[in-house]
Amino acid sequence: MTNKLYGVDLHRTFVSESGGATHAIDNVTISIGAHEFVSLLGPSGCGKTTLLNLFAGFDHPTAGHVYLDGKEISAPGPDRGVVFQEHALFPWLRVEDNVGAGKRLQARPAQERREIVSRQLAMVGLEKFARHYPHQLSGGMKQRVSIARALANEPEVLLMDEPFAALDAMTRSQLQSELIRIWSETRKTIVFVTHNIEEAVLLSDRIAVMTARPGRIREIIEVDLPKPRDPNSPNFNAIERRVREILWEGVSSDLH
Ligand SMILES: Nc1ncnc2c1ncn2[C@@H]1O[C@H](COP(=O)(O)OP(=O)(O)O)[C@@H](O)[C@H]1O
Ligand SMILES: [Mg+2]
Repeated sequence: MTNKLYGVDLHRTFVSESGGATHAIDNVTISIGAHEFVSLLGPSGCGKTTLLNLFAGFDHPTAGHVYLDGKEISAPGPDRGVVFQEHALFPWLRVEDNVGAGKRLQARPAQERREIVSRQLAMVGLEKFARHYPHQLSGGMKQRVSIARALANEPEVLLMDEPFAALDAMTRSQLQSELIRIWSETRKTIVFVTHNIEEAVLLSDRIAVMTARPGRIREIIEVDLPKPRDPNSPNFNAIERRVREILWEGVSSDLH
């Protein structure tokens, strides 16, 4: 497996004005392969967003290094597309202009840009909503636009921070299926943050199970089931159980 993203001995400590320190992540080493789908799973506050922000280049590690294709990451770049929990669309732009807003895409000739935008809108099933504004869309549709926008800029890696957490169960389930299809079609490398065990098992090739205070990777679980997966199958349930046990071990050892 070729390394795509590589975090080596990462630490991130936040120091408050009063001098108190939060070790948000401590000693995290993780290697993510090209075309791989890896989830960062753990309870709220365990450092998932902190870690994803280091990959995105929004933030810098207190110690350690992050590499993409062997090159150290020091800032955000078009090689990484980010999708947040709350959509971050421009409210004053139509859907098609939101999808076309990426920097790499803006550098393309207009005709080519239009083609890429309509292809991405079709990929997320929103061709008919190209001329709408974000406020005219449901939460699920806005997240589809966010995904289309990230993909339209042709990133190497898609970084997703609990992208479906604010959606109702049915919409969430629909978008999970679509993400599996999009991942199979585009073969993107995806790093996906979630606190939901079923979601992690449904989507991931590997799950990095994290523990809180300080945030560490407790174990990396390989999910060796063909996709799309059946959440009611015994194999699926067995992996869910194992992940749950590892998560709970982490919580109970925190209490002692
Ligand atoms: N900018 C910041 N300043 C101070 N503390 C922060 C900052 N960002 C995150 N933290 C703290 O770091 C820890 C991990 O946060 P975060 O990465 O957001 O967790 P998660 O995404 O897993 O819920 C938390 O204790 C949080 O309060
Ligand atoms: Mg978070």
